[in-house]
Amino acid sequence: MKKLFLIGKSLKHSISPFIHNRILSEFDIDAIYSNLELLDTEKLKEFVEMVRKDEDVVGFNITIPYKEDILKFCDEVSEDVRIIKAANTVKKENEKLLAYNTDWIGFKRSLEDMEVDVKDKKILVLGSGGAAKACIYGLYRMGAEEVFVANRTYEKAESLKETFQNILKIVPVEWIRRYEFKYDIIINTTSVGMFPNIESSPFDFENYVAGIPVFVYDMIYNPLKTAFLKEAEKKGIKIENGLKMLVYQAIEAEKIWFDIVNLSPNFLLEILNDTE
Ligand code: ATR
Repeated sequence: MKKLFLIGKSLKHSISPFIHNRILSEFDIDAIYSNLELLDTEKLKEFVEMVRKDEDVVGFNITIPYKEDILKFCDEVSEDVRIIKAANTVKKENEKLLAYNTDWIGFKRSLEDMEVDVKDKKILVLGSGGAAKACIYGLYRMGAEEVFVANRTYEKAESLKETFQNILKIVPVEWIRRYEFKYDIIINTTSVGMFPNIESSPFDFENYVAGIPVFVYDMIYNPLKTAFLKEAEKKGIKIENGLKMLVYQAIEAEKIWFDIVNLSPNFLLEILNDTE
């Protein structure tokens, strides 16, 4: 039986094994996907050594906090990983470890499903971590030419200018000044509002008088409707959570590992939306 893993530091609430094992059984693939918690980068190194030796390992997914650390153990990186400098998917091929990023594809496809056009829109991204970078790269691939980025630590937002130089314009915004302009689209990539801190929100719509956005997106999927999305919905704004992104990024990873085509997200979304 072939093996796949999700590696990260804390995986107790991860639903990735559920999603991947459903896809594998749907396509009659003799493989199992399991979580593996790694305490530190020393354990990450040991994991990579194990992967290289074990012929049954096809690949693995990476989550917080190893999406950047994993790159030093990989032999080749895709074009998008070279820019984002973070990978969430690795495939073992001819003894080599190839790094990919399917997060941005998941984000882009979920936005396309909502028929959201990002071209010439004023867009605010909240956060500047790995999730923000995947989001900004996805926006670029959808035709955005400029993205405003507000982050609690301003320097991190500013550093994205260099990350995305020659690709699109990043305008860093101080965290306390995020209410000053009207945005058409606001996207949360921070962890604020995630279970168990479900009362907190990275953006206060009550105090936002600059103007009503047309669309608000939260990458969080637990809970499915964060305080951030609830408030936006009350204002009549179109909203979307991170569940579809999660499902799409998983589908893209399966395509990389097993060349699966024609995999619709719908059967997974139906189950996941019912089992919150
Ligand atoms: P990920 O890979 O999921 O993006 P990360 O790199 O740890 O994870 O980034 C988390 C993001 O959430 C960061 O932008 C972080 O802001 P800082 O750069 O200032 O740390 C943001 N974040 C986390 N907790 C926050 C809070 N209480 N208020 C505002 N932003 C927060």
